Amino acid sequence: MCGISGIVHSENIGRNLFNSIRNLEYRGYDSCGMAMLSEGELDLRKNIGGIDEVNALEQLDKMQGSIGIAHTRWATHGSVTQENAHPHLSYKREFVIVHNGIISNYQELRERLMSQGVVFESLTDTEVFVNLLEESYAEHSDLEKSFLAALQQIEGSYSIVMLSAHDPEHLYCVKKESPLLLGLGEGCNYVGSDLNAFLEYTRQAIVLDDGEYVVLGRDDYQIRKVETGEIVKKSILHIDWDVETSKKGGYSHYMLKEIFDEPQTVRQALKIPTEQISGLAEMFREASRAYLMGVGTTFYVANISQYFFSTLADRYYPALSSDEFSVVTVESGDLVLALSQSGETYDTKTALQYAKTSGAKTAAVVNVMGSAISMMVDQVIMQGSGPEICVVSTKAALAQTFIMLRVALELGRMRDYLTQDVYQKHQQDLELFPEMVQQILNEQSGFVRNIARSTSHVEHWLFLGCGVYYPVAMESALKMKEVTYQHAEGMPAGFLKHGTLSMVEPALHSLFFVPLKEQKVLHDRTLIAMEQVKTRGGTVIGIMFQGDERALAVCDQAVQLPQMSALCAPLAQMIMAQMFAYYAALDLGRNIDKPRNLAKSVTVG
Ligand code: F6R
Repeated sequence: MCGISGIVHSENIGRNLFNSIRNLEYRGYDSCGMAMLSEGELDLRKNIGGIDEVNALEQLDKMQGSIGIAHTRWATHGSVTQENAHPHLSYKREFVIVHNGIISNYQELRERLMSQGVVFESLTDTEVFVNLLEESYAEHSDLEKSFLAALQQIEGSYSIVMLSAHDPEHLYCVKKESPLLLGLGEGCNYVGSDLNAFLEYTRQAIVLDDGEYVVLGRDDYQIRKVETGEIVKKSILHIDWDVETSKKGGYSHYMLKEIFDEPQTVRQALKIPTEQISGLAEMFREASRAYLMGVGTTFYVANISQYFFSTLADRYYPALSSDEFSVVTVESGDLVLALSQSGETYDTKTALQYAKTSGAKTAAVVNVMGSAISMMVDQVIMQGSGPEICVVSTKAALAQTFIMLRVALELGRMRDYLTQDVYQKHQQDLELFPEMVQQILNEQSGFVRNIARSTSHVEHWLFLGCGVYYPVAMESALKMKEVTYQHAEGMPAGFLKHGTLSMVEPALHSLFFVPLKEQKVLHDRTLIAMEQVKTRGGTVIGIMFQGDERALAVCDQAVQLPQMSALCAPLAQMIMAQMFAYYAALDLGRNIDKPRNLAKSVTVG
């Protein structure tokens, strides 16, 4: 939630600092601002709106100076106003900070400071910390000491970057339960809440751990522990993400571009060494009990994976939403597998922490290198999908689903549930999938677009599927809600007749995820539900496979995918539904890459 950036250079950095928060805009886009030290004075500009809107008002990119901090906000404490936007200045205007996370004891600190005459401009917890700095500096007259003294007083989770005219050469940064990374350049250094803050300028990064602070200069940096002052030696990561992957290319939106990245994303997922996949499968095999966990889209990926494990490995592992994970008792011998694109999601991190404390083993499939979740688990698989900029997850979710398919397949082989022949056949199907994804993207996008256009006015949708297509329907309904703001409810097709059928009438549209004909039981059950809707005057849209005349006859409109393996069929439908949501949102003129009220990584509880 929210993006932080800071640069220390010898040259003017106004344009680069502005670019860096533009590259972070997907993390929050209610308001933004920049603060720079210009000729010994702090210059602060901020306002409400997206980055380009604020730039048009405030000329952020024209700001002058060689050291500065910037922030793009997704409001948590305090509504969306210019005063509440970051950076925040201290009341004597000597310190300026940007902050992510929540200072949980800010109310009492604020009251104390107010009783001492401090005047607050905003309602944020952040402004409390910057004024504590002012107070500590009056006592210590030393920036590092004041920074540490102020930190001693706050509770909660935070990453903070501070700039002050008292030290024009350095930024002061701290991390606790909210991500912060350093980027190391030539004669310049960077700090950011994620890699995209500085990926355009350097590929050398250091991931800060909780309880570490940094005094960051343009040629030097020193990382120490807040508690002991001890210097910490950190390894430097080389980031191999391609900068171009985080650009929009010729596409009108990141969401569309990222859907079209999917053949490549699946190829990357196929390249993950088999030893890593079987290492994770082995953890499942050894566990007394195992749980699959994620939240939002990754919860649905966990749900889809449930079906993979049961059909390919004859094992049932419950999927739980991270925010509800505390209902289960975990203990030593259990395994908790988390799925997370960002690797920073608060609910998932908290649930993993609970699992670790209870003595369970933990594993994760994560996209962002150096993220908290990737560092905290016993085994991690880095999915290598490249930066996902659109707030709505598409390519990362698909890759995670594909990776889980590989893990389930490996477990099925290890447990001798699959014969060698069947295992080999499934492997071949997986290897052919990137080509299939390319083909369906090329061939079907026009059809999907037409259906989306003709139905974008529909305010209420049912998304329905049986078996593994049920969580695909749930995930697809979430995509639809996120980008179109229309109501879409995912449910099992067989569940419909137990109540929701009463809503069916021509205006209510039902999107069915129709299995392959060879998946006979699932196919029959889906067809029954489709006919139930049709008979009651409902409008039926199908995502199905070619040659399915029976399903086609029930549909008002349909997307017909080429024949493919049953293994990959649900993934192909997932892609079509992503595209459907995209084109419906396009027709409705929605803010596709940054839907209202959402942010990319939800690092708050
Ligand atoms: C939906 C979406 C969210 C995330 C969820 C978990 O398109 O993006 O539902 O899936 O917030 O985020 P990560 O995967 O970063 O843990």
